[in-house]
Amino acid sequence: MGDIGENTGFDLVVTNGIVVTASEVLSLGIEIGIKDGQISCLGTSLTRSPHTHIIDAKGGIVTPGGVDSHVHFAQDNSPTGDNFTTGSRSAIAGGTTTVLAFASQLKTEESVLPCIQNYHTRAKDLSYCDYSFHLILTNPTPKIMSEEMPLLIKQGITSVKLYMTYEPMKLGDSQLLDVLMAARALGFTTMVHAENSDIISLITNRLEAKNHTTPYFHAISRPQIAENEATYRIISLAELTDTPILIVHMSSEIAMKHVRKAQTRMLPIHAETCPQYLFLLSERLKGTEQDDFAGAKCVCSPPLRHDPNDLEAMWRGVANGTFSTFSSDHAPSTYDHAGGKKLGVKDGVMRYRNIPNGVPGVETRLPLLFSFAGSKPDSRLGLPRFVQITSSDPAKLYGLEGVKGNIAPGYDADLVIWYPDNHFPGTGLQIEQRNLHHAVDYTPYEGMRVRNWPRITVLRGEVKWDRENGGLKGTAKDGQFIKRSLGRIVVGRTGGEARGMMEGERGFWS
Ligand SMILES: *[C@@H]1O[C@H](CO)[C@@H](O)[C@H](O)[C@H]1NC(C)=O
Ligand SMILES: *[C@@H]1O[C@H](CO)[C@@H](O)[C@H](O)[C@H]1NC(C)=O
Ligand SMILES: *[C@@H]1O[C@H](CO)[C@@H](O)[C@H](O)[C@H]1NC(C)=O
Repeated sequence: MGDIGENTGFDLVVTNGIVVTASEVLSLGIEIGIKDGQISCLGTSLTRSPHTHIIDAKGGIVTPGGVDSHVHFAQDNSPTGDNFTTGSRSAIAGGTTTVLAFASQLKTEESVLPCIQNYHTRAKDLSYCDYSFHLILTNPTPKIMSEEMPLLIKQGITSVKLYMTYEPMKLGDSQLLDVLMAARALGFTTMVHAENSDIISLITNRLEAKNHTTPYFHAISRPQIAENEATYRIISLAELTDTPILIVHMSSEIAMKHVRKAQTRMLPIHAETCPQYLFLLSERLKGTEQDDFAGAKCVCSPPLRHDPNDLEAMWRGVANGTFSTFSSDHAPSTYDHAGGKKLGVKDGVMRYRNIPNGVPGVETRLPLLFSFAGSKPDSRLGLPRFVQITSSDPAKLYGLEGVKGNIAPGYDADLVIWYPDNHFPGTGLQIEQRNLHHAVDYTPYEGMRVRNWPRITVLRGEVKWDRENGGLKGTAKDGQFIKRSLGRIVVGRTGGEARGMMEGERGFWS
């Protein structure tokens, strides 16, 4: 290939790596020239000046920095978990250079502006990596939708998350429809937690009456059918209103099939899954011999599923394009803390309904998936697909295209340099809590082995993680708030009729 971009005056050149983008694996020998924090050139034998810094990738793969589009940091309902500093530190050490965290509106709040301001305060000069917020809408009043959302979009906050379950946050169908109609008009991206709230309440109450309240029953209380029903319902509402959506953290094949069918009909229905739904089963919710409450560590919603076939189905969805994003849903709560997971034990009685939901995973997300990417005998997905689902598609969906998620001239120079294949011989590298950088006191992946780990993480042209030379290089002042544009659809298209509608029929009411 000839040089792409301007071959001169680099601050940094990354040499001797195999560069992977969302569409291709470039040959060894293509160098990346970086200037002023951005990628300015890809080519062979890039021109060095006396002040050019060189990183030798040693034959390892180089991917764009991870974009984790679903993390919870500094949330009021998770007071013992990570704040922006500890969470973003963990992100950088695991190759993630941009996180999209949540700012949550309280149901009692009539304006979302103070809440966004509040989250800016929680993150500004306190993050190791770049960040933005999705707004969790729990009270989508007409005023918020018509006056405040346009303002937020101007400020670079271009996505919202809606809950169909959880008492303090859930929206009814009419509220979901209101938000979808606003999204249709304004173009923001709508994420949805899809589980049927009443199914879960019914089962939970009946389990309680029978004293089935240990952590394991969390998985019994939220069966796949709850996810199935809500997924089908939100797809129907999106089809009716002709609005793109993204269904977050999907965990079951029956629900995923609705997504796939909708995509086959070219509806703009996106879906996300997470590491826990590829690697962990509900048996993990049973305690251990030493600690009968230990299953609380794996309480997350949707819950871990029962059967290895459930994991297999999610892997297929990751490989075959049904999922557009693979994010951590890092939702940390300290285990051994009265305000953390231990909220679920009182006077010796375990009550899963009081256990804060979520598992930590912002640091392990990329290494876990990367272990199964490439052309090893047991690989599940190609390297470009790995880049697409962990970085470039989340960037496109959430309005960061042209800035994050690719290795091409003009993009921020956010890179992960991996070790060469077989650097860790045998069964690879063991994940251990003591090596992680979050503020949580456990990892659900303890003892699991991965084939590789980010050797170097580069944020806007500067090395912020160097595993062999002291680890963290950056500071909590490095991360910047990234103003996002409107996201773009990566699956399907808008403009179609809903099934059974005549051409133009929607025009009578929309
Ligand atoms: C974030 O958490 C860490 C460890 O729990 C703590 O030391 C630090 O002060 C916290 N930062 C802020 C801004 O609260
Ligand atoms: C549940 O536990 C309570 C308190 O230990 C006990 O009084 C009650 O009989 C139990 N109920 C059932 C259905 O076992
Ligand atoms: C992708 O995999 C899922 C899960 O097995 C399946 O339901 C879907 O039909 C597959 N799609 C394609 C296009 O192969």
